[in-house]
Amino acid sequence: MSVATKLRNEEVSSVPAPADAQQTPPVGGRDPFGLAGRVAVITGGTRGLGLAIAGAFSRAGAVVVVVSRKAEACEKAAAELRAGGGRAVGRACHVGHWDELTTLAAWLYDEFGRVDVLVNNAGISPLYKRLSDVSEEQWDKVIGVNLKGPFRLSALVGERMAAGDGGSIINVSSTGAVRPTADIVPYAAAKAGVNAMTAGLAHALGPKVRVNAIMPGPFLTSIARDWDMEMLAERTRDHPLRRAGQPDEIVGTALYFASDASSFTTGAVLAVDGGAQWGVPGAGR
Ligand SMILES: NC(=O)c1ccc[n+]([C@@H]2O[C@H](COP(=O)([O-])OP(=O)(O)OC[C@H]3O[C@@H](n4cnc5c(N)ncnc54)[C@H](OP(=O)(O)O)[C@@H]3O)[C@@H](O)[C@H]2O)c1
Repeated sequence: MSVATKLRNEEVSSVPAPADAQQTPPVGGRDPFGLAGRVAVITGGTRGLGLAIAGAFSRAGAVVVVVSRKAEACEKAAAELRAGGGRAVGRACHVGHWDELTTLAAWLYDEFGRVDVLVNNAGISPLYKRLSDVSEEQWDKVIGVNLKGPFRLSALVGERMAAGDGGSIINVSSTGAVRPTADIVPYAAAKAGVNAMTAGLAHALGPKVRVNAIMPGPFLTSIARDWDMEMLAERTRDHPLRRAGQPDEIVGTALYFASDASSFTTGAVLAVDGGAQWGVPGAGR
Protein backbone atom coordinates (compact mmCIF):
# COMPACT_ATOMS: atom_id res chain seq x y z
CA MET A 1 0.00 0.00 0.00
CA SER A 2 1.42 3.42 -0.93
CA VAL A 3 2.17 5.94 1.79
CA ALA A 4 -0.46 8.23 0.32
CA THR A 5 -3.10 5.51 0.36
CA LYS A 6 -2.18 4.72 3.94
CA LEU A 7 -2.56 8.38 4.88
CA ARG A 8 -5.92 8.54 3.14
CA ASN A 9 -7.27 5.39 4.69
CA GLU A 10 -6.00 5.82 8.21
CA GLU A 11 -5.95 9.50 8.74
CA VAL A 12 -7.36 11.80 6.10
CA SER A 13 -10.71 10.11 5.82
CA SER A 14 -11.06 9.90 9.58
CA VAL A 15 -10.68 13.61 10.24
CA PRO A 16 -13.73 15.86 10.20
CA ALA A 17 -14.16 17.60 6.85
CA PRO A 18 -13.55 21.34 7.17
CA ALA A 19 -16.56 21.89 4.92
CA ASP A 20 -18.04 25.12 6.15
CA ALA A 21 -14.70 26.37 7.41
CA GLN A 22 -14.20 28.23 4.13
CA GLN A 23 -17.49 30.06 4.34
CA THR A 24 -18.09 30.87 7.95
CA PRO A 25 -15.99 32.89 10.34
CA PRO A 26 -13.86 30.95 12.84
CA VAL A 27 -15.81 29.91 15.91
CA GLY A 28 -14.57 30.50 19.42
CA GLY A 29 -12.28 27.88 20.89
CA ARG A 30 -10.87 26.73 17.54
CA ASP A 31 -7.38 27.78 16.48
CA PRO A 32 -8.08 30.06 13.50
CA PHE A 33 -4.59 29.35 12.13
CA GLY A 34 -4.91 25.56 12.55
CA LEU A 35 -4.91 23.17 9.58
CA ALA A 36 -5.68 19.93 11.41
CA GLY A 37 -6.47 17.16 8.96
CA ARG A 38 -6.57 19.39 5.89
CA VAL A 39 -4.83 18.26 2.73
CA ALA A 40 -2.30 20.86 1.54
CA VAL A 41 -0.41 20.65 -1.75
CA ILE A 42 2.73 22.76 -2.13
CA THR A 43 4.49 23.01 -5.47
CA GLY A 44 8.20 23.73 -5.22
CA GLY A 45 7.98 22.34 -1.69
CA THR A 46 11.40 20.71 -1.66
CA ARG A 47 13.44 23.76 -0.71
CA GLY A 48 13.36 27.50 -0.07
CA LEU A 49 10.04 29.19 0.63
CA GLY A 50 8.04 26.09 -0.34
CA LEU A 51 9.85 23.88 2.15
CA ALA A 52 9.38 26.48 4.91
CA ILE A 53 5.65 26.60 4.10
CA ALA A 54 5.43 22.79 3.99
CA GLY A 55 7.04 22.59 7.45
CA ALA A 56 4.70 25.20 8.91
CA PHE A 57 1.58 23.55 7.43
CA SER A 58 2.75 20.19 8.73
CA ARG A 59 3.23 21.59 12.24
CA ALA A 60 -0.26 23.14 11.97
CA GLY A 61 -1.68 19.63 11.42
CA ALA A 62 -2.07 19.45 7.64
CA VAL A 63 -1.46 16.36 5.53
CA VAL A 64 1.20 17.79 3.22
CA VAL A 65 1.87 16.81 -0.40
CA VAL A 66 5.29 18.05 -1.51
CA VAL A 67 5.57 18.57 -5.28
CA SER A 68 8.58 19.38 -7.45
CA ARG A 69 10.19 17.99 -10.63
CA LYS A 70 12.39 15.58 -8.72
CA ALA A 71 10.74 12.55 -7.10
CA GLU A 72 13.72 11.91 -4.85
CA ALA A 73 13.79 15.49 -3.53
CA CYS A 74 10.01 15.35 -2.91
CA GLU A 75 10.29 12.11 -0.97
CA LYS A 76 13.27 13.45 1.04
CA ALA A 77 11.32 16.57 2.05
CA ALA A 78 8.22 14.49 2.90
CA ALA A 79 10.35 12.05 4.94
CA GLU A 80 11.74 15.00 6.93
CA LEU A 81 8.21 16.19 7.68
CA ARG A 82 7.20 12.68 8.77
CA ALA A 83 10.32 12.45 10.95
CA GLY A 84 9.14 15.66 12.63
CA GLY A 85 5.81 14.00 13.45
CA GLY A 86 3.87 15.22 10.43
CA ARG A 87 1.91 13.43 7.72
CA ALA A 88 3.41 13.98 4.29
CA VAL A 89 4.05 12.45 0.87
CA GLY A 90 6.07 13.53 -2.14
CA ARG A 91 4.96 13.58 -5.76
CA ALA A 92 6.98 14.55 -8.82
CA CYS A 93 5.45 16.92 -11.37
CA HIS A 94 6.81 19.55 -13.76
CA VAL A 95 4.30 22.36 -13.26
CA GLY A 96 4.99 23.83 -16.68
CA HIS A 97 3.57 20.71 -18.37
CA TRP A 98 -0.25 20.57 -18.49
CA ASP A 99 -0.37 16.82 -19.05
CA GLU A 100 1.61 16.28 -15.83
CA LEU A 101 -0.72 18.64 -13.97
CA THR A 102 -3.74 16.68 -15.17
CA THR A 103 -2.12 13.50 -13.87
CA LEU A 104 -1.21 15.18 -10.57
CA ALA A 105 -4.76 16.46 -9.97
CA ALA A 106 -6.29 13.06 -10.77
CA TRP A 107 -3.79 11.37 -8.43
CA LEU A 108 -4.50 13.83 -5.59
CA TYR A 109 -8.25 13.22 -5.69
CA ASP A 110 -7.78 9.50 -6.13
CA GLU A 111 -5.45 9.29 -3.13
CA PHE A 112 -6.97 11.82 -0.76
CA GLY A 113 -10.48 12.51 -2.02
CA ARG A 114 -9.97 16.23 -1.57
CA VAL A 115 -7.51 19.11 -1.50
CA ASP A 116 -8.10 21.91 1.00
CA VAL A 117 -5.09 24.12 0.33
CA LEU A 118 -3.08 24.57 -2.87
CA VAL A 119 0.10 26.64 -2.86
CA ASN A 120 1.36 27.51 -6.34
CA ASN A 121 4.89 28.24 -5.19
CA ALA A 122 7.23 26.66 -7.78
CA GLY A 123 8.96 29.36 -9.75
CA ILE A 124 12.07 30.09 -11.79
CA SER A 125 13.93 33.25 -12.77
CA PRO A 126 16.80 32.38 -15.12
CA LEU A 127 19.59 34.93 -15.50
CA TYR A 128 20.43 36.57 -18.83
CA LYS A 129 22.90 39.23 -19.90
CA ARG A 130 20.97 41.02 -22.65
CA LEU A 131 17.30 40.99 -23.61
CA SER A 132 18.19 39.51 -26.98
CA ASP A 133 19.85 36.56 -25.21
CA VAL A 134 16.41 35.43 -23.96
CA SER A 135 15.43 32.58 -26.28
CA GLU A 136 11.85 31.74 -27.16
CA GLU A 137 12.33 28.48 -25.28
CA GLN A 138 13.49 30.35 -22.16
CA TRP A 139 10.60 32.83 -22.40
CA ASP A 140 8.09 29.98 -22.74
CA LYS A 141 9.63 28.13 -19.79
CA VAL A 142 9.50 31.18 -17.50
CA ILE A 143 5.87 31.83 -18.42
CA GLY A 144 5.10 28.10 -18.26
CA VAL A 145 6.41 27.47 -14.75
CA ASN A 146 5.48 30.82 -13.15
CA LEU A 147 2.10 31.55 -14.78
CA LYS A 148 0.69 28.86 -17.06
CA GLY A 149 1.20 26.03 -14.56
CA PRO A 150 -0.41 27.86 -11.61
CA PHE A 151 -3.38 28.72 -13.83
CA ARG A 152 -3.89 25.15 -14.96
CA LEU A 153 -3.44 23.60 -11.51
CA SER A 154 -5.77 26.19 -9.97
CA ALA A 155 -8.36 25.33 -12.63
CA LEU A 156 -8.05 21.58 -12.08
CA VAL A 157 -7.99 21.69 -8.28
CA GLY A 158 -10.05 24.87 -7.76
CA GLU A 159 -13.08 23.60 -9.68
CA ARG A 160 -13.00 20.38 -7.66
CA MET A 161 -12.69 22.42 -4.44
CA ALA A 162 -15.64 24.57 -5.51
CA ALA A 163 -17.72 21.47 -6.25
CA GLY A 164 -16.77 20.00 -2.86
CA ASP A 165 -15.97 21.50 0.54
CA GLY A 166 -14.23 24.66 -0.69
CA GLY A 167 -10.61 25.54 -0.10
CA SER A 168 -7.82 28.07 -0.25
CA ILE A 169 -5.43 28.68 -3.15
CA ILE A 170 -2.25 30.67 -2.55
CA ASN A 171 -0.20 31.93 -5.46
CA VAL A 172 3.39 33.01 -4.90
CA SER A 173 4.14 36.14 -6.88
CA SER A 174 7.11 38.54 -6.55
CA THR A 175 7.69 42.24 -5.96
CA GLY A 176 9.21 42.03 -9.45
CA ALA A 177 5.58 42.17 -10.61
CA VAL A 178 5.24 45.76 -9.39
CA ARG A 179 8.91 46.85 -9.35
CA PRO A 180 10.30 45.18 -12.49
CA THR A 181 14.00 45.61 -13.21
CA ALA A 182 16.06 45.09 -16.39
CA ASP A 183 17.38 41.70 -15.32
CA ILE A 184 13.99 40.00 -14.76
CA VAL A 185 11.72 41.14 -17.59
CA PRO A 186 10.11 37.76 -18.52
CA TYR A 187 9.84 36.77 -14.84
CA ALA A 188 8.32 40.13 -13.86
CA ALA A 189 5.78 39.82 -16.68
CA ALA A 190 4.84 36.31 -15.51
CA LYS A 191 4.49 37.40 -11.88
CA ALA A 192 2.39 40.45 -12.85
CA GLY A 193 0.18 37.91 -14.59
CA VAL A 194 0.02 35.91 -11.35
CA ASN A 195 -1.25 39.00 -9.50
CA ALA A 196 -3.97 39.61 -12.10
CA MET A 197 -4.84 35.93 -12.23
CA THR A 198 -5.28 35.84 -8.44
CA ALA A 199 -8.15 38.35 -8.56
CA GLY A 200 -9.70 36.66 -11.59
CA LEU A 201 -9.57 33.23 -9.96
CA ALA A 202 -11.06 34.67 -6.76
CA HIS A 203 -14.08 35.70 -8.83
CA ALA A 204 -14.19 32.46 -10.80
CA LEU A 205 -13.92 30.10 -7.82
CA GLY A 206 -15.79 32.04 -5.10
CA PRO A 207 -17.64 31.89 -2.85
CA LYS A 208 -16.38 28.50 -1.66
CA VAL A 209 -12.77 28.89 -2.73
CA ARG A 210 -10.57 31.78 -1.65
CA VAL A 211 -7.61 32.76 -3.85
CA ASN A 212 -4.84 35.03 -2.60
CA ALA A 213 -1.22 35.79 -3.46
CA ILE A 214 1.90 36.28 -1.42
CA MET A 215 4.23 38.77 -3.09
CA PRO A 216 7.73 38.13 -1.70
CA GLY A 217 10.64 40.51 -1.93
CA PRO A 218 14.21 39.20 -1.78
CA PHE A 219 14.57 36.03 0.30
CA LEU A 220 17.77 34.12 0.98
CA THR A 221 16.79 30.81 -0.61
CA SER A 222 18.66 28.71 -3.18
CA ILE A 223 17.63 31.29 -5.82
CA ALA A 224 19.99 33.68 -3.98
CA ARG A 225 23.00 31.44 -4.68
CA ASP A 226 23.47 33.23 -8.01
CA TRP A 227 23.02 36.72 -6.61
CA ASP A 228 25.70 39.35 -6.24
CA MET A 229 25.55 39.85 -2.45
CA GLU A 230 27.13 43.29 -2.60
CA MET A 231 24.48 44.42 -5.06
CA LEU A 232 21.79 42.88 -2.84
CA ALA A 233 23.12 44.80 0.19
CA GLU A 234 23.14 47.95 -1.91
CA ARG A 235 19.53 47.39 -3.05
CA THR A 236 18.08 46.40 0.31
CA ARG A 237 19.73 49.37 2.02
CA ASP A 238 16.96 51.47 0.48
CA HIS A 239 14.17 49.15 1.68
CA PRO A 240 12.44 50.03 4.97
CA LEU A 241 13.71 46.87 6.71
CA ARG A 242 17.19 47.15 5.07
CA ARG A 243 17.69 43.40 4.50
CA ALA A 244 16.62 40.28 2.63
CA GLY A 245 14.24 37.82 4.30
CA GLN A 246 14.88 34.36 5.73
CA PRO A 247 12.62 31.54 4.39
CA ASP A 248 10.81 31.12 7.72
CA GLU A 249 9.61 34.73 7.50
CA ILE A 250 7.12 33.68 4.79
CA VAL A 251 5.21 31.19 6.92
CA GLY A 252 3.01 33.53 8.96
CA THR A 253 1.42 34.88 5.79
CA ALA A 254 1.08 31.42 4.23
CA LEU A 255 -0.64 30.09 7.36
CA TYR A 256 -2.92 33.12 7.41
CA PHE A 257 -4.07 32.62 3.81
CA ALA A 258 -4.35 28.83 4.16
CA SER A 259 -6.43 28.84 7.32
CA ASP A 260 -9.74 30.16 8.63
CA ALA A 261 -7.87 33.20 9.95
CA SER A 262 -8.34 34.76 6.50
CA SER A 263 -11.95 33.59 6.01
CA PHE A 264 -13.05 37.01 4.66
CA THR A 265 -10.00 37.61 2.47
CA THR A 266 -9.84 36.71 -1.21
CA GLY A 267 -8.25 38.24 -4.29
CA ALA A 268 -5.61 39.87 -2.08
CA VAL A 269 -1.96 40.30 -2.99
CA LEU A 270 0.08 40.71 0.19
CA ALA A 271 3.68 41.87 -0.03
CA VAL A 272 6.11 40.09 2.32
CA ASP A 273 9.15 41.99 1.26
CA GLY A 274 10.70 44.05 4.06
CA GLY A 275 9.07 47.04 2.38
CA ALA A 276 10.95 46.44 -0.91
CA GLN A 277 8.05 47.69 -3.01
CA TRP A 278 8.33 51.05 -1.25
CA GLY A 279 12.13 51.29 -1.53
CA VAL A 280 13.34 54.76 -2.44
CA PRO A 281 16.82 55.30 -3.93
CA GLY A 282 19.07 56.84 -1.29
CA ALA A 283 16.63 56.22 1.59
CA GLY A 284 19.05 54.13 3.62
CA ARG A 285 22.11 56.34 3.19
N1 LIG B 1 13.69 33.84 -3.11
C1 LIG B 1 13.29 35.04 -3.50
O1 LIG B 1 13.99 36.04 -3.32
C2 LIG B 1 11.94 35.23 -4.15
C3 LIG B 1 11.50 36.55 -4.36
C4 LIG B 1 10.26 36.74 -4.96
C5 LIG B 1 9.49 35.67 -5.33
N2 LIG B 1 9.96 34.41 -5.11
C6 LIG B 1 9.11 33.31 -5.56
O2 LIG B 1 8.93 32.40 -4.49
C7 LIG B 1 8.78 31.08 -5.00
C8 LIG B 1 9.78 30.16 -4.31
O3 LIG B 1 11.07 30.67 -4.53
P1 LIG B 1 12.36 30.05 -3.81
O4 LIG B 1 13.31 31.18 -3.67
O5 LIG B 1 11.96 29.28 -2.60
O6 LIG B 1 12.88 29.08 -4.96
P2 LIG B 1 13.91 27.85 -4.90
O7 LIG B 1 14.63 27.81 -3.60
O8 LIG B 1 14.71 27.93 -6.15
O9 LIG B 1 12.94 26.59 -4.99
C9 LIG B 1 12.18 26.41 -6.14
C10 LIG B 1 11.30 25.19 -5.95
O10 LIG B 1 10.52 25.05 -7.13
C11 LIG B 1 10.72 23.74 -7.67
N3 LIG B 1 10.59 23.82 -9.12
C12 LIG B 1 11.34 24.53 -9.99
N4 LIG B 1 10.91 24.34 -11.24
C13 LIG B 1 9.84 23.51 -11.15
C14 LIG B 1 8.96 22.95 -12.10
N5 LIG B 1 9.08 23.20 -13.41
N6 LIG B 1 7.98 22.14 -11.66
C15 LIG B 1 7.85 21.85 -10.34
N7 LIG B 1 8.65 22.36 -9.39
C16 LIG B 1 9.63 23.18 -9.80
C17 LIG B 1 12.12 23.33 -7.18
O11 LIG B 1 12.30 21.94 -7.10
P3 LIG B 1 12.90 21.03 -8.29
O12 LIG B 1 14.18 21.67 -8.71
O13 LIG B 1 13.08 19.68 -7.67
O14 LIG B 1 11.87 21.02 -9.36
C18 LIG B 1 12.09 23.92 -5.77
O15 LIG B 1 11.38 23.07 -4.91
C19 LIG B 1 8.98 31.19 -6.52
O16 LIG B 1 7.73 31.28 -7.15
C20 LIG B 1 9.73 32.50 -6.68
O17 LIG B 1 9.52 33.08 -7.93
C21 LIG B 1 11.15 34.16 -4.53
